[in-house]
Amino acid sequence: MTLQSATMLTPRQIVAELDKYIIGQQEAKRALAIALRNRWRRQQVESPLREEIMPNNIILIGPTGVGKTELARRLARLAGAPFVKVEATKFTEVGYVGRDVESMIRDLAETAVAMVRQEKTAEKRREAAAAAEERLLNILVPSPATGISFEIGGSSMDSYMERRADVRYRLSKGELDNQVIEIEVSTPQLPMMQVVGPIGMDDLGINLQEMLSRFLPKTSKRRKVTVAQARAIFEQEEAEKLIDMDAVIREALERAETMGIVFIDEIDKIASRGQTAGPDVSREGVQRDLLPIVEGSTVNTKYGPLRTDHVLFIASGAFHVSKPSDLIPELQGRFPIRVELHSLTEQDFVKILTLPENALIKQYRALAATEGIELEFTADAIEEIAAIAARVNETVSNIGARRLHTILTTLLDDILFNTPDAIEERTVTIDASYVRRKLERLAQDVDLSKFML
Ligand SMILES: Nc1ncnc2c1ncn2[C@@H]1O[C@H](COP(=O)(O)OP(=O)(O)OP(=O)(O)O)[C@@H](O)[C@H]1O
Ligand SMILES: [Mg+2]
Repeated sequence: MTLQSATMLTPRQIVAELDKYIIGQQEAKRALAIALRNRWRRQQVESPLREEIMPNNIILIGPTGVGKTELARRLARLAGAPFVKVEATKFTEVGYVGRDVESMIRDLAETAVAMVRQEKTAEKRREAAAAAEERLLNILVPSPATGISFEIGGSSMDSYMERRADVRYRLSKGELDNQVIEIEVSTPQLPMMQVVGPIGMDDLGINLQEMLSRFLPKTSKRRKVTVAQARAIFEQEEAEKLIDMDAVIREALERAETMGIVFIDEIDKIASRGQTAGPDVSREGVQRDLLPIVEGSTVNTKYGPLRTDHVLFIASGAFHVSKPSDLIPELQGRFPIRVELHSLTEQDFVKILTLPENALIKQYRALAATEGIELEFTADAIEEIAAIAARVNETVSNIGARRLHTILTTLLDDILFNTPDAIEERTVTIDASYVRRKLERLAQDVDLSKFML
């Protein structure tokens, strides 16, 4: 999907796309769809009003394993937007040991640069491939002018051209892929030592090693490689020559500023209640550090300054102990949209197992198919799995849809182990009685299911 068409999706279309992967949670989908579309709408508004329009930062509230992270991830992919996911608990207040909050924006810049760079490389692939082929030809059929010629008798230009055409043809057929040739590869001469900068250098996004290697002379080394390997090396080198890194960085920073999405997980863990003592002090400190970033400020990255005014922040947490109102008021104000995600029911599990494009049952069927086995699940088997998942979630602990993963691995253990050696039938059908036979005893015994499911 191109960037253009993706950003043009209407809220209804966005929800329809999310529906392909996530079951239920309609309110959250709506809120996310509106937030995404509003960014596109903002781009259409004239300056100076445009600059005034703030992103609709969102807090997703809901128990574990109900689709919070999955929703944010899918949304970012839909939008073709640079996306980073961070855990709020990873950060510590400035001055303490740990990652400072600004590092999330540096990560965003990094992601955006990688993204744009990859796109540009893909655009230049044909050009790079053509240039790589020429280099290969120059090695395999050196020009007569260089003096080294493989020609036996008659070194006329004609036979050189003919031979070149012939080798070009054989190259394209891959006939020469395993032939070994010697090529020059340039390697920056790096002193063999670990470069350790002062504390915090890493966080500033400064890589000493990288900096040093830029000043050191590049030396080339002769290496023996196959034609196929040489082609890959040349294509990489040629692509690098063809892309303008300055333009990539400029575009990446702009994309991060206007489209970037930062997902802050476990925000509830840094919300403190009432008394501030002990670790709470530092939690509140993290919130205070977050404030300017969410509010809009300029963060220095190794690619240059990045303004965070229009970055979309999506926070998420279970909020079992604390409440969104336990966050410092200024921060609450910066996350105006709250949506609750719901616990998943047995009926949801039936759908989650079968409907999404990446549904677990589809995944396992595809895995079995690689061994030539058709794995079938009857409808009552699916219902039984969903029922057991719901029951174990209730009795042991509620881990949401993640329960389906653990149950399926246990259920299919024998089949996955015995395939392909000890399986005779081409079609393996899993019905409700098979599910019960494999799981009933485990599911009924709370102690056992604690360990096994
Ligand atoms: N509503 C849903 N529809 C489809 N799949 C789901 C749904 N909810 C969760 N899943 C699946 O369950 C797994 C865990 O979901 P996810 O990572 O989104 O949980 P979460 O809500 O972020 O939980 P946590 O609070 O622990 O981070 C993912 O593999 C996801 O695909
Ligand atoms: Mg999550």
